[in-house]
Amino acid sequence: MKIAIFGTGYVGLVTGTCLADVGHDVICMDVDADKVSRLKRGEIPIYEPGLESMVRDNMHAGRLRFTTDPAEAVTFGLLQFIAVGTPADEDGSADLQYVLAVAKTIGEHMDDYKVVIDKSTVPVGTADKVGAALSQALAKRGSQLEFDVCSNPEFLKEGAAIDDFTRGARIVVGTDSERVEALMRECYAPYNRNHEKLMFMDVRSAELTKYAANAMLATKISFMNEIANLAERLGADIEEVRRGIGSDPRIGYHFIYPGCGYGGSCFPKDVQALARTAGQVGYPAELLGAVEAVNRRQKTTLFTKLQRAFDGELKGKTIALWGLAFKPDTDDMREAPSRALMEALWAVGAKVQAHDPEAMDECRRLYGQRNDLTLADSREAAVEGADALVICTEWKSYRTVDFAWLKRELATPVIVDGRNLFEPDAVKQAGILYFAVGRGESS
Ligand code: UGA
Repeated sequence: MKIAIFGTGYVGLVTGTCLADVGHDVICMDVDADKVSRLKRGEIPIYEPGLESMVRDNMHAGRLRFTTDPAEAVTFGLLQFIAVGTPADEDGSADLQYVLAVAKTIGEHMDDYKVVIDKSTVPVGTADKVGAALSQALAKRGSQLEFDVCSNPEFLKEGAAIDDFTRGARIVVGTDSERVEALMRECYAPYNRNHEKLMFMDVRSAELTKYAANAMLATKISFMNEIANLAERLGADIEEVRRGIGSDPRIGYHFIYPGCGYGGSCFPKDVQALARTAGQVGYPAELLGAVEAVNRRQKTTLFTKLQRAFDGELKGKTIALWGLAFKPDTDDMREAPSRALMEALWAVGAKVQAHDPEAMDECRRLYGQRNDLTLADSREAAVEGADALVICTEWKSYRTVDFAWLKRELATPVIVDGRNLFEPDAVKQAGILYFAVGRGESS
């Protein structure tokens, strides 16, 4: 099938590449000329395991192209995927200007029937707005061409996006058109072979499904963080509690890991946007507000623990930080707990020596040169001369540590672990003060 993808960000690039990989002819359009020329050279702008080689292979096979020319993309694709950004507005609602600009562009250039597919995460009711913007552009040309708009939300996790696309649990399509249903079946047939994953539903339900999924996952995390904070105060161990409740299949083991708060481009933004949507229809979504509030507080927990460890005397201290990315296997630092921590430390005059396997360039881009930030080449170098160690991201390479070595390196032997990587007794035996999440304060 001939497919056009608007937006070569994370979602657009993964979608376009995975669809090309099963034999579709894909053109990806982006207004960012620099990004497109890099993509044409086979360089991808994000870190996503396996994606770069897949982009190159499909380009060489002639199934994947990149362009800055909207007319070329519109006329090429029968399916037009909109995968541009929907940043949060000042009030937390999703900003639809880029999505609607693409709809207008499609209306301006289309010369035949098109299926317009909302892939970006967009509030309920957006498909109607996309349809209206497109109709308006067509009317301006005096054109009667036909089109359909459908919703096809993505459920990709950064760091596992290819796997999620190719082996995801479900493919949700919101449409009331049989023609669209048949075309979307054809599009996804290669990924729908072993069992039926396609779920057709009305457009609004598909749009809400995306937000409900992310809000539910964020709720699980905030709930666990709340219980972890309680466990600390009650002398219980959240890791035991996690095992205890996860064994109930109605609860399950997934997404109940306590930590230093959820980050990334999705959960914080989507929970806020859904709360905003609820407000717009006059429903006070109290649970969503609480999920967000708990998360905001959780991001301060590492700093609070450090303050406790140093009796509030953090000025002039050097804190080693392992993990800048909001989670492992990505270089993304959007809404990362590491940022809240670093900014709080800098505000009280402490220095940070940070290491991350992938996100150090991103950290440089965000914060530039600062006297109170050193980006270390290795986790060992980050610890050199530091007073304490904080772990923000559970990269695999941080999981095994020689505590005797750490005790020698750290001026005040303190570990604040935002991901519960270690056995408290092992750390304690090495003579290190260990502050984890929800596990009591061992010393
Ligand atoms: C999330 C969803 O998991 C995807 O299904 C969805 O498609 C995507 O958002 C999106 O809307 O585009 P992502 O933001 O890439 O994916 O990352 P996750 O792996 O879900 O992690 C989000 C945050 O939750 C991370 O900061 C992670 O550390 C935290 N988390 C996750 C926990 O604190 N505890 C857990 O048990 C799980």
